[in-house]
Amino acid sequence: MILIDGKKIAADIRSEIRIQIDEKLKQGGKIPHLAAILVGDDGASETYVNLKMKACIEVGMKSSLIRKPDSITEDELLDEVHALNENRDIDGFIVQVPLPKHISEQKVIEAIDPAKDVDGFHPVNVGRMVQGIESFTPATPTGIMELISRYKIETSGKNCVIIGRSNIVGTPMALMLSRKGYPGNCTVTICHSRTENLKEITKQADILIPALGRPGFLTADMVKEGAVIIDVGTTRVTSTETKSGFRLKGDVAFDEVAEKCSYITPVPGGVGPMTIATLIKNTLKASFGK
Ligand code: GUN
Repeated sequence: MILIDGKKIAADIRSEIRIQIDEKLKQGGKIPHLAAILVGDDGASETYVNLKMKACIEVGMKSSLIRKPDSITEDELLDEVHALNENRDIDGFIVQVPLPKHISEQKVIEAIDPAKDVDGFHPVNVGRMVQGIESFTPATPTGIMELISRYKIETSGKNCVIIGRSNIVGTPMALMLSRKGYPGNCTVTICHSRTENLKEITKQADILIPALGRPGFLTADMVKEGAVIIDVGTTRVTSTETKSGFRLKGDVAFDEVAEKCSYITPVPGGVGPMTIATLIKNTLKASFGK
């Protein structure tokens, strides 16, 4: 079994980005600038956004964190989005989701200028991705493609099973892996909460990608011998062993599945750092030519 070291690959990518930024600055380009809007005080969202901001600093990018209270109205948040669209120094920005229930995530996403939508969530970017045209692509599935590619994992003709159909992970992941090219050319199945005979399907998978947010959900009896396991789950569970009082748990029952598979991503240190590195890469791309 090979442990896929997302932490190391993400650090490699950040080093590559730093070199590209230095080069860009030497040629008179501007410093790339990522902004993030964080609404409310959800602990997990706060952790993720802080990691994104920290990664910017590490690669020599500017970052701005805009915090808004849970009580912000939809119109007020849309005004913030419009202000970032107009701000010439901001190359890309994200609105961390989930948002409070009284705000339509869809409306907010559609208000973002697609040229600054480094999350790749805007329908224009999603549509372009579906048609295989250059676009910003969502960070988590793009980061997974990068992991597969850097570990030279064979994908052509393989059965890939994804558990979860979110707009952020499951749906774009299915599209990317089924497309022509490498990584790609997979036969993809998306499973979800209504799937019958889930275990029968997951046992057919050469590449298995649980992305449902249920700690320890994928057990060894659901996995084919020699499968590649990419664990997208990052649920915060309380822990007495960490300073923060929390630790991240993946969707995979790691110890038992690790014995059976050919490759596996750990949680933490697998997909998570790749998501952040990809967002930073997208921000650099948004700043090209400026
Ligand atoms: N919430 C969970 N993942 C993401 C992400 O990639 N981007 C944003 N904006 N919110 C998220």
